[in-house]
Amino acid sequence: MTTSLIETLRPEASGAPASGIVELSKYARNAGEVIQLWVGEGDAPTPSFIYEAATRSLAAGETTYTWQRGIPELRQALSAYASDLYDRPLSPERFFVCGSGMQAIQIAMTMVAGPGDEVIIPSPTWPNAPAAAGLRGATPVFVELDHGNRGWTLDLDKLEATITPKTKAFFINTPSNPTGWTATKEELAAILAIARRRGIWIIADEIYTRFVWTGAEKRAPSFHDVREDGDRILWVNTFSKNWAMTGWRTGWVEADPSLGDVVENLIQYSTSGSPVFIQRACIVALERGGGFLDHQIAKARKARDIISAAVEETGRCRFSRPDGAFYLFFGIDGVTDSNAAAKKIVDLAKVGLAPGSAFGPGGEGHLRLCYLRSQDQIEIAAERLKQAIPQL
Ligand SMILES: Cc1ncc(COP(=O)(O)O)c(C=O)c1O
Repeated sequence: MTTSLIETLRPEASGAPASGIVELSKYARNAGEVIQLWVGEGDAPTPSFIYEAATRSLAAGETTYTWQRGIPELRQALSAYASDLYDRPLSPERFFVCGSGMQAIQIAMTMVAGPGDEVIIPSPTWPNAPAAAGLRGATPVFVELDHGNRGWTLDLDKLEATITPKTKAFFINTPSNPTGWTATKEELAAILAIARRRGIWIIADEIYTRFVWTGAEKRAPSFHDVREDGDRILWVNTFSKNWAMTGWRTGWVEADPSLGDVVENLIQYSTSGSPVFIQRACIVALERGGGFLDHQIAKARKARDIISAAVEETGRCRFSRPDGAFYLFFGIDGVTDSNAAAKKIVDLAKVGLAPGSAFGPGGEGHLRLCYLRSQDQIEIAAERLKQAIPQL
């Protein structure tokens, strides 16, 4: 009997789960003109004032190896941006530039969890986080969010009851993709208190913090609001969403400066650093991208209202208006196979949504719609969904 090549690989690699979002996107791409709302990005390209900094840098020959932690000017710009956003001084030594928010998650997971360890993740969740834990040989353990009159909520007793001696980290994504769950400051303080008491790391994914709909705040509550020096928290972040830079694949880790050599090594042994010309554009995004970001936020706010009203009007959907991020995560009465439903919606309405089954326990029966879209496009999608949903 011959052994197949795949059988000889590490099980963590060969057994990595396929993304349920990719399957739907392949189906929809063969279906002609489909409004693509399954993907987690807006419809605007990177603005020229940002990308021109990259072309200038390329023209100036900035094409060599560089600082593993990021060029000093970008770390300085991150420090200024974050200090202003969180109203507390955060030194440049805390910031480590890397290749995307996804790589930031990989680095953070590598730092705290490995074979035999467990990482607790509220679910429904963006599937890449548990997959990153799994690739490191750790086991993702899910704690399901509840859904009721107050929208999505995390039961802190349930979170604590999920801890075992193997638990090394909580992965906390707030505002959440896909549910929009947005932890309050009090909830973050309570999660941190549990983590302190039980000696657990927190990987804080607050990448959607600027997209918050609960009031007039400039950002969602953050672990920055409750942390003290010495707390075991690693932040993962990205340029992707705020400044329409998903294709640039650049993000950052924020960690205590005492961990700098470790983060530097993990960058050295993966990408060995992010391209300088990209980092030049990132500096411009941070320093001059405020107006563009405000425009993105206003666009998402309007689209959230339009699409929520349309889904509500069908009378067949279970959902709550999300408190943050730019996704609507809704259940449809009678729909139990979200993959089949998403495909049917592609056929009936030419609108592509991500199946809830892709988002871990608690996700099946739901669909995720990204609403960071122009008003015109979201209005067309809303009309089409109003027609299609009753036919499911
Ligand atoms: C919750 C969450 N974290 C991190 C990321 C990573 O973003 P990127 O890899 O584009 O920087 C995403 C992207 O969708 C996300 O939804």
